[in-house]
Amino acid sequence: MTLIFNGEQLAKQKALKLKTKVAVYHAKGIYPKVAAIFFKEDAASALYTSLKKQTAENLGIAYQAKAFSFADPVEEIQEYIDSLNSDSSVTGIIIQKPWTKKWLEAVPNGDFSKWWSGLVSHIATKQSHGVNKDVDGLAPATLTAIKNGTWMQDGMVLPATARAVLSILKDYRANIDPDFSYLTENVLIIGQSDLLGKPLYWHIKNLMQHGATVPQAFGEACQVSVAKAQENDKKCEVKLVGKQGLEDIIEQRKSLSDFRVIISATGQKNLLRGELIAPHSILIDVGEPQGDIDLQSCLNKADFITPVPNGVGPMTVISLMANALDLLKPVL
Ligand SMILES: NC(=O)c1ccc[n+]([C@@H]2O[C@H](COP(=O)([O-])OP(=O)(O)OC[C@H]3O[C@@H](n4cnc5c(N)ncnc54)[C@H](OP(=O)(O)O)[C@@H]3O)[C@@H](O)[C@H]2O)c1
Repeated sequence: MTLIFNGEQLAKQKALKLKTKVAVYHAKGIYPKVAAIFFKEDAASALYTSLKKQTAENLGIAYQAKAFSFADPVEEIQEYIDSLNSDSSVTGIIIQKPWTKKWLEAVPNGDFSKWWSGLVSHIATKQSHGVNKDVDGLAPATLTAIKNGTWMQDGMVLPATARAVLSILKDYRANIDPDFSYLTENVLIIGQSDLLGKPLYWHIKNLMQHGATVPQAFGEACQVSVAKAQENDKKCEVKLVGKQGLEDIIEQRKSLSDFRVIISATGQKNLLRGELIAPHSILIDVGEPQGDIDLQSCLNKADFITPVPNGVGPMTVISLMANALDLLKPVL
């Protein structure tokens, strides 16, 4: 039987814990405040920003949002980011990444990557300003620290979507199968963006390579799993693929059945079908607004599926709030 994950439910449980943490900060006179920037031509960004604002305010985290237009000069947006960097009441800054397609429609023949990195690299990180406000973990300095495996000791946070996926896998272990660990399974990540695929791949790869020296922060259970897998000489791999890489695997191996854990973030409807997966798979669907997984054909074959909607989405919102509090840790 396949267990269908309930993202709203787990996000509510997490929210209760975060609310208590916020109260502790407030009692010490520390007030978390996130400043969000979004682009009004992208309706999805406006919607996500209002959902995040609502969740933040329910927890007692201030959330101020400012809309820009794609037509606004980059320098003007950078100046605004600089003002947030030097505003000591702002503890986290997020730029809601617009859908590339929408941006290209508004600014034809432009270079999206250059535009995006010109903005996100302006967010204060320890390296640039001595203080870290990169609450969504997307600044280049944060991504480099994740790649190098130093993000935690550097006081940085994972991108919220990556944190959401890891929380779901951790919850599966805690509440469903204590023998499961994503560090002792073959893991396939489909979709290689900065938002999820790359940072998640780097992080899991680093943890798998660390073996028994996995940092304590990831929990004793995590250390034990890796040590056990090494004792049994179990070789696990994490693979990151885009369109061509996925086609190559399917052509060479005829299916994706070598991978027990599959995390898919492409936005391609029904990309993952029942005939491609192994029995007892753990399937995490990050696609939006439509899921990547063909639910019907995977039912009763997979052990666990996150649906769309009500899967990774609500967990991403609450993970951003957890990030906002983690950025305050050095203060407390
Ligand atoms: N639930 C959430 O919280 C959340 C958060 C963020 C994003 N998302 C969703 O995640 C999806 C991806 O977003 P993104 O910003 O990462 O997009 P992106 O930057 O456009 O990246 C899309 C990735 O998907 C890959 N891809 C596209 N078609 C494919 C196919 N047929 N087979 C295999 N791979 C394919 C691309 O491969 P190439 O590298 O080969 O081009 C690329 O790596 C979207 O649906 C988005 O809405 C959800």
